[in-house]
Amino acid sequence: MQTIRTLEALRSGIAALRDGGASIALVPTMGALHAGHLALIEAAKRPGRKVVASIFVNPTQFGPNEDLSRYPRRESADARMLADAGCDLLWLPPVEVMYPTGFATKISVSGVSEGLDGVSRPGHFDGVATVVAKLFNQVRPDIALFGEKDFQQLAVIRQMVADLDFGIEIQGVPTQRDDDGLALSSRNIYLDDAQRAAAVALPRALGVAAKAIARGDAADDALASAREALIGAGFVVDYLELVDALTLTPGTDPERARRLVAAAKIGATRLIDNLAVPPR
Ligand code: PAJ
Repeated sequence: MQTIRTLEALRSGIAALRDGGASIALVPTMGALHAGHLALIEAAKRPGRKVVASIFVNPTQFGPNEDLSRYPRRESADARMLADAGCDLLWLPPVEVMYPTGFATKISVSGVSEGLDGVSRPGHFDGVATVVAKLFNQVRPDIALFGEKDFQQLAVIRQMVADLDFGIEIQGVPTQRDDDGLALSSRNIYLDDAQRAAAVALPRALGVAAKAIARGDAADDALASAREALIGAGFVVDYLELVDALTLTPGTDPERARRLVAAAKIGATRLIDNLAVPPR
C-alpha cells in the first residue's frame, strides 16, 4: 500500500491504479481505525477495483466545544491496519492541502442536514459535505463507501452527490457492533469501564423500540420507554426520533422504510446510533 501526502503524487498514484482499467473505490475516514472502518474497506474490495482510503481529521466539522484537539491520532497503526485489510493507497493530506490560506468555499446541503445532529452540531454537516466534496474531486473515485452508523451523514452525502452531479456511486455499509451490541466508534475509547458497561443501553433501547414499532405498537409509547431506559442507564438524551429513512423527517408512514435515530451523552461522551424499522 502506498501512503501519499501531496496532490501531485495522488494524481499519479491514482492514474497508476487505474492503469489496465481498474475502477476506484474511496473510503474516507478520520483515522483511529476500528473494525467498523475495516468493514468499509472489505465491502469496497471487488475484482477489478482498487481501494483508496483517506485519513484526515477535518477541523471544519468539529464545533468549538468538541473534541478536535483530543481526537485520537494513530497514523502508523492505521496505515498497518489498512495495508493488512487490502487497501491499495492511503491518502493522508496535510491540513494546508485541504484548507490552504484563503480557502473560502462551503457546501451546505439543506433539508437532510437540518434536523437531528444538524441542530445539536451547527455547521457540522457543512464541514462534512465540503471536505467530502474535496476528497471526491481529489481522488475522483467511481464509488465511495460510508457507514450507516452515521446515518444522517450518509443521507447528506447522497443528496450532495445527486444535486451536484458528482457521478459517484454511494454505498452504505451496515453498522459494525461490539459483541454486546454497542456500535463501534473512535469515540468509545473516551468511555471508562462503568460508562462502557452502561453504554449498551443505547443499542438495547433502540432494538426494543424498533421491534415494538415494527409489530404495530404506538411509536410515541415505544420512544417514551426507550427514553426512560436511556435515562435509567445514565444517559442524557439529545434526540431520540423515528424518521423517514430517506428524508429524515418525522416518520409516521408505516408503509415507508423508517429509521430510529438517537444521540445521547454518557458523561462527556456523545454517542449516536440508529436502527432500521422495516415497512409493513
Ligand atoms: P469517521 O468517523 O472516521 O468514519 C469514517 C467512516 O466509517 C464513515 O463512513 C462512518 O460512518 C464509518 N463508520 C464508523 N463507525 C462505523 C461502524 N461501527 N460501522 C460501520 N461504519 C462505521 O465519518 C467520518 O469519519 C467523517 O465525517 C468523514 C466522512 C471522513 C468526513 O470527514
